[in-house]
Amino acid sequence: MSKKNFTNIVILTGAGISAESGIKTFRDQNGLWENHDILDVATPQGFERDPELVHRFYNLRRAQLLSDEVKPNQAHFALARLEKEFNGQVVIVTQNVDNLHEKAGSKNVLHMHGELLKMRCSKSKQSFSISKDITSARACPCCLEEGNLRPHIVWFGERPFHMNEIQQALSTCDLFLSIGTSGQVYPAAMFVDLAKESLAHTVEFNTNSTDVSDKFDEHRLGKAGVEVEKFVDELLS
Ligand code: OAD
Repeated sequence: MSKKNFTNIVILTGAGISAESGIKTFRDQNGLWENHDILDVATPQGFERDPELVHRFYNLRRAQLLSDEVKPNQAHFALARLEKEFNGQVVIVTQNVDNLHEKAGSKNVLHMHGELLKMRCSKSKQSFSISKDITSARACPCCLEEGNLRPHIVWFGERPFHMNEIQQALSTCDLFLSIGTSGQVYPAAMFVDLAKESLAHTVEFNTNSTDVSDKFDEHRLGKAGVEVEKFVDELLS
């Protein structure tokens, strides 16, 4: 890493940062969609076809997240420490729908693909915190009707959340970190291009090389729990 003094850091995280916390990634072996066709559980059409299947799928993931098995790991904690101790701005843009960044203490987190611990009314678009299962028979807190609740998750074909804030943060960042993401899903996969337009230094953290690796200035190959902590120590020293 260059010895430049950075002031605005944008950190993109993906499923790989939560892998060491026990949450399966999407595209690795034993991926979450192993037994489910993505079109069945992650598209508005799949939900329309079989809402109970989709509810069951996300209910299981929510229950796992709320169980004692899943806890933030060293990478989540290191990013929370960075936000607290860094003399500048730190924004985490996560594709993950878990709450492990927040559990580790990060405050400035944008969930571009939604959150497992929220549900939304399909009619009013209002979102609500939840811990219990969603079913088609559960009445919506705002319209009181059954069948209007859906997971607060961005499905394929839907626009990710917080895009204006994310673009704004990328347009002023001078350091861009991408951690544990395969670079296969857009628009997140092109954030490195936007960061480079802002002349940011770009660093990829991954256990493997990815489809977008050649776009990065620097690579930290290895587990996020080890590499992110090392990098944060270097940055804060
Ligand atoms: P992927 O499953 O596509 O990629 C996970 C990446 O993490 C891979 O490149 C792995 O090599 C890497 N990885 C695995 N373990 C790691 C570790 N311990 N340390 C560092 N890297 C590790 O997940 P995403 O890129 O997050 O969207 O997937 C993007 C989006 O695809 C998801 O948000 C999801 C899915 O469609 C929605 O659900 C809307």
